[in-house]
Amino acid sequence: MGAYFLLIVFEGIDGSGKSTQAKLLVSRLLERGVHSVYSREPTEGAVGELIRHYVLEAASITNPVTIALLYAADRSDHLEKLGDMSRAVQVFDRYYFSSIAYQVAAGAPLEFVERINSFAPRPDLTFLLDIDPRLSLGRLSKHDAFESRGYLDKVRSAFLHLAKIYNFQVLQGDDTPRAISETVFRQVWGKLVESGAVV
Ligand code: ADP
Ligand code: TYD
Repeated sequence: MGAYFLLIVFEGIDGSGKSTQAKLLVSRLLERGVHSVYSREPTEGAVGELIRHYVLEAASITNPVTIALLYAADRSDHLEKLGDMSRAVQVFDRYYFSSIAYQVAAGAPLEFVERINSFAPRPDLTFLLDIDPRLSLGRLSKHDAFESRGYLDKVRSAFLHLAKIYNFQVLQGDDTPRAISETVFRQVWGKLVESGAVV
């Protein structure tokens, strides 16, 4: 298999099933000998930890512009640490669309959030797991600072709007994990065939 690169992104509100699907995709690709790597934002790095602590847990940083800058900094750190991505399928559990949906829904100006994320490469394929917050919140055991119904309703609408602009593949988050994973895998495999990475 030659050098190949695909950037696959999973987006959606909290508890929509992103991590489940991103990890399932990676294991299915690995089973077939396709080198693939899972990573998530916020990351486990220093900026990601700062976000988890001061934004998500303590909620002591609340300004949406400040928060957008922190997520962008974490994203830059994420991309830098991945290094040479050219020989793997990179599977991201959240990316800059989360900033556009969450921070703009919280009041940050859209153009500002887009501008500070303009360094980030565009994904080849983005899956949006669409689900009613009433259902996704019920799946989660601990709610962090952002996981309120009303806010997530706004974030969900923002994601659906972005789906049209950026041509996301919208999946029903209330389907079974297996059914969703089948659809995801078929589309990713199609991309790999298209790019000549697999036959
Ligand atoms: P996210 O990464 O979007 O927050 P997770 O993948 O962590 O979501 O899933 C949140 C919870 O919901 C987990 O307990 C997971 O096992 C469960 N879950 C994931 N996908 C589904 C699904 N399609 N149907 C029902 N439960 C699901
Ligand atoms: P995450 O750990 O993915 O939470 P979950 O597994 O519950 O989906 O993300 C933590 C929170 O960070 C989540 O509420 C969404 C938020 N977030 C932003 O607001 N902007 C961003 O750019 C990113 C990457 C995440």
